[in-house]
Amino acid sequence: MLAPMQGLTNRAMRSVQHQIGHPDVLFTEFLRVKQSTHHRISRNDRRESAAQISDTPLVVQLIGHTALSLAEAAQMVQDQGVQHININMGCPFGRTTSGKTGGAMLSVPELLPECLRAVREMVDGSLSVKIRAGYDNPEQIFELLPMFEDEGVDFLILHPRTVVQKYEGSADHNITRRVVAATSMPIIANGDVVTAKQGMALLADSGAAGLMIGRGAIADPLIFERLRGRAPARVDASRQKQEACDYLKYVLVAYQELFCGDQQVLGKLKGVVACFSEPSLQRWVKRLRRCRSLEGFVAELE
Ligand SMILES: Cc1cc2nc3c(=O)[nH]c(=O)nc-3n(C[C@H](O)[C@H](O)[C@H](O)COP(=O)(O)O)c2cc1C
Repeated sequence: MLAPMQGLTNRAMRSVQHQIGHPDVLFTEFLRVKQSTHHRISRNDRRESAAQISDTPLVVQLIGHTALSLAEAAQMVQDQGVQHININMGCPFGRTTSGKTGGAMLSVPELLPECLRAVREMVDGSLSVKIRAGYDNPEQIFELLPMFEDEGVDFLILHPRTVVQKYEGSADHNITRRVVAATSMPIIANGDVVTAKQGMALLADSGAAGLMIGRGAIADPLIFERLRGRAPARVDASRQKQEACDYLKYVLVAYQELFCGDQQVLGKLKGVVACFSEPSLQRWVKRLRRCRSLEGFVAELE
């Protein structure tokens, strides 16, 4: 699965990922559920949830906090034809002014059953939750599993860091393995997979039902094909740069259609390049990130 990533997995990026690596499942970035009863989801976000790709399931992710607003938002996107809903219980940067959303929901676990029940009643297709291991305690997930099972959650995507940890340290996939053993729900493993070899090892070690890949896929969309054995698991440095160049040219065209003006496109492209962690590409990445104009960026790609 391609991970939901705010600012990155917009409909243009999802289409590029589909063409290059064909992830089996696509996710929207989180769609913020508004407290205003008039329109629970903004017009632009509704465009995102409507942008389905015919042969690949699209899961729409909602971030919000009250049972009523989440259920009404779920109904709104379901009325658009969406079949799969995911609730964000992991984002460490959730707004907490009007209520605890994203990962902050884990600091008020007593509120979770009501939210899940309301959404479950509304959603005919799959309901999943994307979650961190805990708010500040990585063992919290084990206390929550029976509740997710009771509320009819179809699968969990686990990113085994705590919310307060943000992106520090590394994902502790010992927790993933223990969670897989502790529940009958399918667990999708997520966190710090940037090569096919790491992905295969994580699947084998944890027994997870599948993988969700974020930054690794934004850097290398072929990772899904590499995992399937349909693209080479490793390529040499010059081929890597060539593949990255071809991919960025694709993204450029897709972003020019979706975004307005060169500066916005340039900013979005730099967001993609920021995910390139491969050491041999770093000098080139630095040059791309220093470009002040889209023209300069394109010249660098050429
Ligand atoms: C820039 C950025 C934006 C993200 N946006 C979201 C989001 O909208 N919803 C969500 O559930 N997780 C979001 N995440 C978390 C990712 O989905 C994923 O769980 C995390 O990056 C770990 O996976 P990875 O190591 O494969 O990237 C975001 C992460 C990053 C770096």
